[in-house]
Amino acid sequence: MTAVRLLSTTVATPVEGTQPVRQPRTFPRLFGSLLLVVAAGISTVGAVPAGAEPAPAVRPLGRIVPAPASVQPGGAPYTLTPWTRIRVDDHSREARQIGTYLARILRPSTGYALPVTDDHLPGGIRLRLSPRDQGLGEEGYRLESTRGSLTLTAHKPAGLFHAVQTLRQLLPASVEKDSRQQVPWKVAGGTITDTPRYAYRGAMLDVSRHFFTVDQVKRYIDQLALYKINKLHLHLSDDQGWRIAIDSWPRLATYGGSTQVGGGRGGHYTRKDYQEILGHAASRYLEVVPEIDMPGHTNAALASYAELNCSGIAPPLYTGTDVGFSSLCVPKPVTYDFVDDVVRELAALTPGRYLHIGGDEAHSTSHADYVAFMDKVQPIVAKYGKTVVGWHQLTGATPAKGALAQYWGLDGTSDAEKAQVARAARNGTGLILSPADRVYLDMKYNKDTPLGLDWAGFVEVRRSYDWDPATYLPGAPGSAVAGVEAPLWSETISTSDHIEFMAFPRLPGVAELGWSPASTHDWEAYKVRLAAQGPRMAALGIDFYRSPQVPWPSA
Ligand code: ACM
Repeated sequence: MTAVRLLSTTVATPVEGTQPVRQPRTFPRLFGSLLLVVAAGISTVGAVPAGAEPAPAVRPLGRIVPAPASVQPGGAPYTLTPWTRIRVDDHSREARQIGTYLARILRPSTGYALPVTDDHLPGGIRLRLSPRDQGLGEEGYRLESTRGSLTLTAHKPAGLFHAVQTLRQLLPASVEKDSRQQVPWKVAGGTITDTPRYAYRGAMLDVSRHFFTVDQVKRYIDQLALYKINKLHLHLSDDQGWRIAIDSWPRLATYGGSTQVGGGRGGHYTRKDYQEILGHAASRYLEVVPEIDMPGHTNAALASYAELNCSGIAPPLYTGTDVGFSSLCVPKPVTYDFVDDVVRELAALTPGRYLHIGGDEAHSTSHADYVAFMDKVQPIVAKYGKTVVGWHQLTGATPAKGALAQYWGLDGTSDAEKAQVARAARNGTGLILSPADRVYLDMKYNKDTPLGLDWAGFVEVRRSYDWDPATYLPGAPGSAVAGVEAPLWSETISTSDHIEFMAFPRLPGVAELGWSPASTHDWEAYKVRLAAQGPRMAALGIDFYRSPQVPWPSA
């Protein structure tokens, strides 16, 4: 049995009480209304009435998600007043932009003017970029809160941006509301010094099974930023839809993107749309990782261009939810012209360092063809200056030097498959950990969850948080772990409400696994910090799942 067949077989093996393949999913829009009913009534025990604000008025300094690396509480709190200014370093455009972003968050709820200035008067909220604080690295920061001033210091702008997210969470949750609130705006006294555990802290959105508009993606980006997620992986192509305009192969988007699961209208991003997403992500210090899934999951491309098929005949568009039935034609030279064009155009558009080439569930590609395909395609990615990311089946071929493999197995994945990935990790392939039975955000929380799938089992909030990336995959060195990523597949997900109900509150836990030191890992403490996010998510209009595992504050 070949390695890839081995993988295919083991991935398809059901774990207890689950289905071997993704289930048929033609879900009516009824879900939107069901969701509202569930969100309104699922749990009277942990419900967070709109507008509820837990005591005390001054939040303990460390009570944020992700948990900070170091907290030294002490001293009198800092208080925002109608006269507070946001002071930024005069030489930094980015510090000014971050100061303006902070002011825009704080103004509606405080009702204060909060001018952004580069004056040198003492006091106020100060945003500093400090060349000397190299220890804070690319993304770390220090927050110092005293009676007279609140100072955010970072070595790089991303750190300043993350410091702002911490400051948001230290203020009362009603700071997130868009109308004026009469609340004392205090930040507990003390110092937080904080740097991330992993450089790769991602979330994936499948825009192929259902298409999401630029505004929907931007909304999700804003929510990810609050928890210091720094990668947005966009699953841009699959059997059901091709979602990015490629000038040299225009029918991919215009025809291949014209529908979606269930037969709706679909859609695609023009270059301008994609650039708008990239720009918004960059303003939130997220790097976009675009994925073109190959050689399987390619029906939308095969339907758009007959010559990409070994038969020379284009299949019809596909609006169901099966997987594993499509493959690019590995022996045909035109396949590599196609891949070269797509990768060249996408790489030129994308400023980030990664390009994800998929490689999962290639059940209709022979093992020899899979290996041959990956041997040809990975150098194309390198030729256009990008680093390969692939789903972990890539380790059944020969991963390129520097490639990252995204592990999406389960507890029930075979030892042989886990060993194959671990072996690659020992040989230098980096790992992004996305175990499906932990962090797939499309898995149902329990049997009553109206959205989502259950082929990897039910994933309640504790299960998604309570594991350690460094020791997760037996035989893989902790040093190979680049980070974690929470994918959200969209067979059953078609609105922002759906995204939010499935992502929250599991996503903050994955963000914490990526950011916080292992020493802070503790479910009992985490659930209290997560509970404090309830009123904040409510104030932001995030329709989250009121898990009974979390002690949400009552009024
Ligand atoms: C996957 O869930 N097929 C990566």
